[in-house]
Amino acid sequence: MPILERFSLAGRTAFVTGAAQGIGRALTQALAEAGADVAIADRNGEDAGQAAEEIRSLGVRALALPLGVTDSGQVIGVIDEILARWGQLDVAVNAGGIAVRSPAENIPETDWDAILGVNLKGVFLCCQAEGRAMLAQGRGSIVNIASMSARIVNRPQQHAHYNASKAGVVQLTRTMAAEWTSRGVRVNSLSPGHTLTPMTARGVATDGPVWAANTPMSRLGTPDDLQGAALFLVSDASA
Ligand SMILES: NC(=O)c1ccc[n+]([C@@H]2O[C@H](COP(=O)([O-])OP(=O)(O)OC[C@H]3O[C@@H](n4cnc5c(N)ncnc54)[C@H](O)[C@@H]3O)[C@@H](O)[C@H]2O)c1
Repeated sequence: MPILERFSLAGRTAFVTGAAQGIGRALTQALAEAGADVAIADRNGEDAGQAAEEIRSLGVRALALPLGVTDSGQVIGVIDEILARWGQLDVAVNAGGIAVRSPAENIPETDWDAILGVNLKGVFLCCQAEGRAMLAQGRGSIVNIASMSARIVNRPQQHAHYNASKAGVVQLTRTMAAEWTSRGVRVNSLSPGHTLTPMTARGVATDGPVWAANTPMSRLGTPDDLQGAALFLVSDASA
């Protein structure tokens, strides 16, 4: 098949978490532009609904699904709903995440549980439900949004719990890839650098110059910068 056709997602269905804004929103747009029907899941159901409206204007189907990724019942429920409506799940992007700053010696236990809960357990629960659907079909591709914080310690902000959660996402991804790829399901992660989104908006004012200076391109990323890499990983181009 010609290479550009291998990037096409026409006839595929996709599920994106954290899709109401930021990186998840930009990746939703990319999947829809490539031809996929997209289910937009986020704890912010109102913005997910708006995003779905915009996606429908591209001529594909879109579903807005309010979802808290730490609740296994909700996660299983939204995947079941996609299968009931569309009959298949080909692509999943797990982008829902949170970040809180604190010096390691002061991290409250509740913050540790919240960060690890959303960023690591949430990704696990989503992958598990997505993987079950895809393994039953014998095909599918999952992309988890990790972070460069999986491998390096960003400065000047301090968030040991965030860094640990993202390192966990990378190793979880490798493990599921090793378990599932022989049965047709690929699992990859993307590790963005500093990216301008609502998550980083507040920190940019104080730390933006440090982040840019520590980045070889001397600028922060934009969510659009990640669209090509994500499309490559979920499409047959990276088979
Ligand atoms: N912005 C960056 O610089 C950067 C860098 C590396 C990695 N990341 C990662 O990329 C992902 C997206 O980040 P972003 O910058 O777009 O953040 P963002 O805050 O702009 O968007 C995150 C989205 O996730 C949703 N969300 C949060 N908790 C949720 C939950 N429990 N259930 C369902 N949805 C939930 C939010 O409502 C929001 O729409 C995150 O995993 C983040 O850790 C971001």
